[in-house]
This record gives sequence, C-alpha cells and structure tokens, in this order.
Amino acid sequence: MKRICALFFALVLAGTLTACGDTGVTPTIRIGVALYQQDDTFISTVMQAFQQQAMAMEQERGVKINLNLADGRSSQTIQNEQVDRFLDQDYDVICVNIVDRTAAAVLIDKAQSAGVPVIFFNREPVMEDLSRWEQAYYIGSPGARAGELQGELVLRSWQSDPSALDRSGDGVLQYVMLEGEAGHQDTLLRTEYSVKTLTGAGIATEKLANETADWQRGQAGTRMKQWLEEFGDAIEVVFANNDDMALGAIDACLNSGMAPEDLPFIVGVDATPPALEAVAEGTLKGTVQNDAKGQAKNMLALSCALAEGTDPSRAVELTDGKYVWLPYVSVTKENLSAFQQ
Ligand code: GAL
Repeated sequence: MKRICALFFALVLAGTLTACGDTGVTPTIRIGVALYQQDDTFISTVMQAFQQQAMAMEQERGVKINLNLADGRSSQTIQNEQVDRFLDQDYDVICVNIVDRTAAAVLIDKAQSAGVPVIFFNREPVMEDLSRWEQAYYIGSPGARAGELQGELVLRSWQSDPSALDRSGDGVLQYVMLEGEAGHQDTLLRTEYSVKTLTGAGIATEKLANETADWQRGQAGTRMKQWLEEFGDAIEVVFANNDDMALGAIDACLNSGMAPEDLPFIVGVDATPPALEAVAEGTLKGTVQNDAKGQAKNMLALSCALAEGTDPSRAVELTDGKYVWLPYVSVTKENLSAFQQ
C-alpha cells in the first residue's frame, strides 16, 4: 500500500496525473464519426490521421478518447440511423461526412434536440442548413482553390513550353474532365475553376468530353478508355477532380499501349500516396494536396473543445464562427519531397 501511495504522489508531482482531476477517473470523450463511404481513398486517409492523432492526444492530455466510426455506404437513410444511434447513446460530439449534402437540416435539428454538437467535414452542407444552430460546424478545404491550382499547373507548363502541351499545334488546349460525384461541392468548384484559370489567362480551350466517374479509379479508367478510342492523341490535358480518377486515366493510357512519356498532361487533387508515386514517375504531372492531416487535427481539436465545453475559437481558427478552412497546396516533381512521408 505504501509503495502504491508513493508511486501515486510521484506521478502527481511529475504532473502526469493532473488531467485526471480529483476523482482519479480518466475523463472520456466520446466521438461518433459517420462516414459517407469508408473505402473512399481520401476519407480513409483522413480517418487514419484522426485515429493516430487521437491516440497521441490521449497520451499528451491524460484523457481517453472513444472513437466510433460508422460507414454510411453511400445511403443517407443508413447514415441517419447511425447518427440516431450516436445521439441515443449520448456521444459528446458527432462528426458527419454527410452522404447527401442537401440533407443536413434533419441531422442538425436532431443533434440540436439532443444537445450534441455536430461537425460536418469534407462534404459541405448548404449555408442555410448550417446556420440553423450555432453548435453546427464545417471543416474542409475551398474547392475553387483546388481548381485554380490545377489550372495554374497547366498554365505554367503552357507558358514554359507551349508546343509540348499543344500537341496538335492549333493554339487551343483540348481537354477532358473526369468529374467526382454529381452535386458534390468539390466536383462543381474544381471543374469550374480549373478551366476558368486557363481562359482567364487568355488560353483558348476546347472541352472534348466530361463525365462523372464518382471519385473512382476503375470508373475513370473505363471513361478514359472510351475517350482514347474516340479522340486518341487529340486529348492534350486531363483534368481529374481527384487523384483516384487521375490514376484511372493513367491506367487507361498505359493499357492502351501509350509510352509513359507520351501521356497527356494529367492533373489530380488530394496528394494520396499512390498519386505522389505517380508524380515521382512522371505519369501524373501534378496534384493538389487536400490536407487530410490538417482536417483530422482540426476536427479532433474542435471535437475536444466542444465535448469539454471550452471556447471552440481558442481550439481552431473559425471563420464566421462556423467554418474551419484548410488551404490547398499544389504538388509537382519539384516540391514532391515535402509531401512524401
Ligand atoms: C473530395 C476528395 C475526393 C473524395 C471526396 C469525398 O474532397 O478530393 O477524393 O474523397 O472528397 O467526399
């Protein structure tokens, strides 16, 4: 008994038990996370970072963090049930990667009635919905900026060597657009601003084709295969709303027998590990980092502040009291090493 007491006082003196408070019971934060689809490459990167950071925070702050992840399997009905369960089970905070971003009002109202703060991430609810309750937040990156950075990657290449990009020599950039899910804010904004950046800089462009491939590599490969059959070498640029689809386009080009150095100028978004490898190999000309670790870090800090009832604006940088915006950064062969782990 004496030895246990001595150990206890030594730990208190060393400061390691102070976070446990007077009761000696480790405080627990319960976070329910509802994902639109667990096997989405970028979302699983965010979740890996979230879990690792939560473990590190447990050590640092002497708290216990209970994370419960639910896979919505692309169904709003399934996701609503999962959120209901989190609310019934008295979770301290819920994080929602909403399946249908126009359906947030119902979830916000339920969370408000239960008094449980809700943080949306990656799939942005419309502003009217988010403003229904002051304890509803959004964490993400501004899709228009990713589009601008993709456009700038193409623009820089055009300015440094127009003939390498304009293979037909007609002074016009022929492109195809691989789009993410219809209605997703990143699909709409990345599609619009990538091209606007070129036309705004006075470059003539021609869209050969566009189609959704739902963020997926396999679907993008199928679309690109069809486009290669239809347009062949006339495709000079491939804008892909994310890296998985850019990788699908690369697969299709290589499978068609094209040499790696003859691929069109392909750009993506996310900076996932396989995309960074493709940048190193030169098949992907560039991507835009979607800051998975930063989004996870802010989601954890905000979750803890809300669960503990401390001022959220001291934990994260809030815009309009609701939004946490993480910047995008473009990645090419030149700065690649800064993004590889
Ligand atoms: C985007 C990301 C895509 C996909 C999508 C899911 O921000 O670039 O790869 O993960 O979110 O909502």
